Amino acid sequence: MSAVHSDAFVFFGASGDLAYKKVIPALQAMIQHDGMDIPIIGVSRSGWSLDEFRQHAHDSLAAAGAVDEAAFAKLSGLLRHVDGDYNDAPTYAKLKAALGEASHPLHYLAIPPSMFARVVEGLDGADCASGARVVVEKPFGRDLASARELNATLHRVFPERSIFRIDHYLGKEAVQNLLYFRFANSFLEPVWNRNCVDNVQITMAESFGVQGRGKFYEEVGAIRDVVQNHLLQVMTLLAMDAPPDSGAEALRAEKLRLLRAVRPLDPSEVVLGQFAGYREENGVARESDVETFAALRLRVDNWRWAGVPFYIRAGKKLPVTTTEVVVDFKRPPAVTFDRALSTGANYLRFRISPEETIAIGARVKKPGGEMRGQPVELIVRNSKPGDEQRPYERLLGAALKGDNTLFTDDATVEAAWAVVDPVLGHDGELVREYAPGTWGPDAAARIVVGGEHWHDPKREAVEPC
Ligand code: BG6
Repeated sequence: MSAVHSDAFVFFGASGDLAYKKVIPALQAMIQHDGMDIPIIGVSRSGWSLDEFRQHAHDSLAAAGAVDEAAFAKLSGLLRHVDGDYNDAPTYAKLKAALGEASHPLHYLAIPPSMFARVVEGLDGADCASGARVVVEKPFGRDLASARELNATLHRVFPERSIFRIDHYLGKEAVQNLLYFRFANSFLEPVWNRNCVDNVQITMAESFGVQGRGKFYEEVGAIRDVVQNHLLQVMTLLAMDAPPDSGAEALRAEKLRLLRAVRPLDPSEVVLGQFAGYREENGVARESDVETFAALRLRVDNWRWAGVPFYIRAGKKLPVTTTEVVVDFKRPPAVTFDRALSTGANYLRFRISPEETIAIGARVKKPGGEMRGQPVELIVRNSKPGDEQRPYERLLGAALKGDNTLFTDDATVEAAWAVVDPVLGHDGELVREYAPGTWGPDAAARIVVGGEHWHDPKREAVEPC
């Protein structure tokens, strides 16, 4: 049975940063590509008139270099603005009036999680919730306990099938390809386990700092900001078993099974860091012990992965901006050729951003009289940044259609919190300072064991084959 298409798009936080950078460009893109033609109602406390809201939308598109005057004219015609405080009942009465005939609106909460409960109650009180969907942004809670509370709050008003928890990584083309590449090919499955894989590394490096979001970042830190959500989702796609079909239910069941097999983090297997200068950022406490870097070792207690370490490393002010996964296969025995030729031979590399790459690392013989080799990469996929449909367009479009395949459900989000929970209340003394432009504190090196090392995504050029 296909789901009903939402007949109005409401976004709370219409004057905020997320709306400016992501939501408004996504709305114009949905008009361009999908012929979006439903009322679009922004809610904010900005005091704006409708014309001022339209101007703001135009400014947002201009800042993104994405103005398409014809599509913008359509967007302008669909825009409405409801001005009001989220704590006041009249705001929701105004929204109800603005919704007019719409009976299946989608409410997107592009606002801090501390406001979710208030807005959800307000929607319910003004009869804007029945038949509606709600989309919430990450971070979904601050830890396992608060995520459970938040789920309970949402469930008081919305059934689980009407709740869409955004993790924009799941809307990325390259992340979807992890799932596709794994399960649309047969050659991986026989080697995708503890018998052949030595270790798995996921690095999310950003060369920039907190970019004026110090106040937000102080509330989260690297683990809550990107590990609990984006990177555990990537790990789940890499490690889970094959779902029986590509529907939301089957996918969620396998993800959940995998996440429940991940051992909660042991603080001795985590190194946290803070870049020098972070405390001088706007909105950051002078004594802040919030981590801007985390390196960690995860264990998966199931038959496929027992004994294979999964390493995750994420940080701000690192040497490059890229997200990359490397699945390292066990080394060939140093028997036929000498030891020097047998190291670092085989891996699968998925670069998730900025460009998408899927590559297989191998060694071939160097031309000449000697049996000497060199590393090469078989590039399976290589697409430039910008080739993909933008995650917010994809995700909001799916939510409007009621397709929750690309969203996380209550149980999965809680299982991911259960993994990181033991290190959230970390003792500030565990956070080590690192110099901007480096790969975090030196201690991060000890996270990788078994004679291996972190793969540097800016590594030596490997010849394509
Ligand atoms: C966000 C984090 O969820 O993801 C940011 O809050 C981070 O801190 C961003 O920079 C990275 O996303 P992308 O898609 O730009 O790689």
